[in-house]
Amino acid sequence: MALPPSLYQAIEKLTESCNFSDIQKARRDLTQRYHTKQASAFITDDAERLSYLITRMPATYAVGHTVLKQLSKEADKITSLLDLGAGPGTLLWAAKDIFSSIKDVTLIEEDHRLAELGAGLFDDVLKKKQIHHIKSDLRQAAPFAPHTLVTLSYVLGELSSNHQKAVIAAAWEATIEFFVLMEPGTPQGFERIREARTQLIEMGAFIIAPCPHSLACPMAGKDWCHFSERLERTPLHRLIKEAPFAYEDEKYSYVIAAKSPLKHSLSRVIRKPQQGSGHFILDLCTQNGLKRVIISRKNQELYRIARHLEWGDPGPKLDGKNND
Ligand SMILES: C[S@@+](CC[C@H](N)C(=O)[O-])C[C@H]1O[C@@H](n2cnc3c(N)ncnc32)[C@H](O)[C@@H]1O
Repeated sequence: MALPPSLYQAIEKLTESCNFSDIQKARRDLTQRYHTKQASAFITDDAERLSYLITRMPATYAVGHTVLKQLSKEADKITSLLDLGAGPGTLLWAAKDIFSSIKDVTLIEEDHRLAELGAGLFDDVLKKKQIHHIKSDLRQAAPFAPHTLVTLSYVLGELSSNHQKAVIAAAWEATIEFFVLMEPGTPQGFERIREARTQLIEMGAFIIAPCPHSLACPMAGKDWCHFSERLERTPLHRLIKEAPFAYEDEKYSYVIAAKSPLKHSLSRVIRKPQQGSGHFILDLCTQNGLKRVIISRKNQELYRIARHLEWGDPGPKLDGKNND
């Protein structure tokens, strides 16, 4: 996955006259701040904002795109988007690619300058949409106006535990159809997703992904539910990240909640499938908890399905039919 060409070209243009060593340093400082979580505001100046556009926006875009794609069959229900903590409008880029049906967009972001830099990157399709930019602190902005799709991407970790609960409650209140939450795929990021999931179920939500049910999460001990998205690094991305490879794997955790029940997968592949000699080992989250299944080549139909399964995919029906 890569950013849309028009977006990365606009980012390159925006940064062409900048001092790259300043942006490299800003990226290192910002990463350090995210790792130590010792800040009231994580992004503090323009060099850090540019480093976010160059090195983090591609990752959150790729994750947002992969997660939202799971709602593509529901596109006719999705006519408006409310993105909370929208940053430069990353989720909007992913959403507009999947839901051409979206007409009204509200982006709430407290860092006005980041929102402004993001809006300067918009292409003609986005410029034609009805986009309301609200510069506000989410902790004070509720109640939010109702929208068919509400998203919170890589924001929860920047809020205190009490504020996470309050923002989720207000976001769910504003959700007409779907509410999507994404976080880094770390144990801490997953714990925030798990707590949000529990809160959403208590508020009446139907969980439609990645979980195959709305029962208690069976993930226990040192395990955490996360997935991985491979994304391309452009030369500029590599330069600013001081990274040798032309790709990176972004780990993420997420949950999609719906206001009404929806037909969805009865299991999920929660680890990279392992291929043995004449069999595949699949780790699945199922309606009956976590299961490891071994699919032998002798079971031709299931084996054929297993060969194409990837980490994060809906799991197969164990009678051989794909259940998505
Ligand atoms: C890691 S960035 C994610 C940006 C964007 N959602 C994305 O996926 O690329 C977190 C964003 O949340 C915003 N944010 C954090 N706390 C906020 C708050 N209390 N009110 C509004 N925005 C907030 C930050 O300013 C930042 O833009």
